Amino acid sequence: MTATQASIGEASTGEAPIVELRDFGVAFGMKDRPIHAVRAVDLTVRPGEIIGIAGESGSGKSTLCTGLIRALSPGARVSGQVLFGGRSLYDLPMREVAAMHGRDIAMVLQNPMTSLDPLYTIGNQVREVLKRRGVPSASLREQAVAALKRVHITAPEMRVGQFPHQLSGGMRQRVLIAMAACASPRLLVADEPTSALDATIQDEILLLFRELRDRTNAAVLIVTHELEVIRRVCDRVLVMYAGRIVEQGPVSTVFGNPRHPYTRALLASTPRVEGTDVVLTPIPGQVPDLKTLGPGCAFADRCTHAVDPCRQSRPEPRRLGPDHAMLCRLEGALQ
Ligand SMILES: Nc1ncnc2c1ncn2[C@@H]1O[C@H](COP(=O)(O)OP(=O)(O)O)[C@@H](O)[C@H]1O
Ligand SMILES: [Mg+2]
Repeated sequence: MTATQASIGEASTGEAPIVELRDFGVAFGMKDRPIHAVRAVDLTVRPGEIIGIAGESGSGKSTLCTGLIRALSPGARVSGQVLFGGRSLYDLPMREVAAMHGRDIAMVLQNPMTSLDPLYTIGNQVREVLKRRGVPSASLREQAVAALKRVHITAPEMRVGQFPHQLSGGMRQRVLIAMAACASPRLLVADEPTSALDATIQDEILLLFRELRDRTNAAVLIVTHELEVIRRVCDRVLVMYAGRIVEQGPVSTVFGNPRHPYTRALLASTPRVEGTDVVLTPIPGQVPDLKTLGPGCAFADRCTHAVDPCRQSRPEPRRLGPDHAMLCRLEGALQ
C-alpha cells in the first residue's frame, strides 16, 4: 500500500470501528444511465466520534447516511463494502438488519412528524423502545419519564400522556432523540435534525447529541447545512461534493486550514461577521448534474484554481496528515 492509499478515511483513535466503508457507492436510475449519488467513499467511524457531513443540496449526504445503515429506498444499487461492527452489512439477512435498526442503529430525520406515530401517546412510543430493549414492564413508565427528562423536556409526567400533535417541533425532535438514546445505539444518524427548528432550540438539541455520546460512547453522524453547528458540535467533518468526499479531517484542521477549493468556497459562502458587516461570498455556478458528469473533477467548472488536467481526469485521494485527506490534485498550488 502506498502512503496515499493507506487508510485514508481513518481516525487515529485506537478503538475498533463501528462502520467501515471501502470504495462505497450508491447508484439510482437505469443501469445504462445511472445517477451515481455516492461514489468511491472510504470512511471509518469509531465509537464516541461525532462526525459532521457538509455539502450543498444534492451532494449525496442523505444517500451516504442511508446507505451506510442499509436503509436506502428500493431501486438503489450499492457497490463496495460496508462493515458494521466488522460484519458485511449487505450480506446479512434483512431480518437481522431490521433488528439492528431497532437496537444498534438509530436515525433522527429532518421532519419529526413523520417519525412519530400520530396515533400513540409519547409515553407509549418511548415505552415501546424500552420494552424492545428488555426493560421490565414494572419500570417502563418510570424509565420513559426519565428518558424525557434527560433530553430536558419539562413536565415529563404530563408529556407521556400526550400525542405528537400536542407538542412543538422542537419538543418532538427531543422525543425522537430520547427514543434514540433509550435504544442505546452504537450509531446515531441525524440527517438535518434541526433545520426545521429555530436557532435556540437547534443549540439545545445539538448539545443533546454530545450528551448522548458522552453517556453511551455512541458514534454520531450529523448532516447539516450549518457549518457553525459542525464547528461547535463535531470532532470530524466530511465535505461532500457530487457524491464524493472531497475533504475530511478533524474539524479544527479542516476549518482552520481548509485545503480543497470546494471546502474553502463553502466556508467563504457562510455568512460571517467582519467588523460591523455580515459578509459572504456565494459559490459561483451550480452543483453539476450527476447524469452528465464529465471525465474530470466534478468541481472543476466552478473552481477558480482549475487547470487543464482537472477537466480531463478525476483526482485521486491525497493524504495531508494522519486524519486529513482531500480529493484534489492541486495540493501544492493551494498551500
Ligand atoms: N431515490 C432516489 N432516486 C433517484 N435519485 C435519487 C434518489 N435519492 C437521491 N437521488 C439523487 O441522488 C443525489 C444525491 O441526493 P441526496 O443524497 O439526497 O443529497 P443531499 O442529501 O446531499 O441533498 C441527487 O442528485 C438526488 O436527486
Ligand atoms: Mg439530504
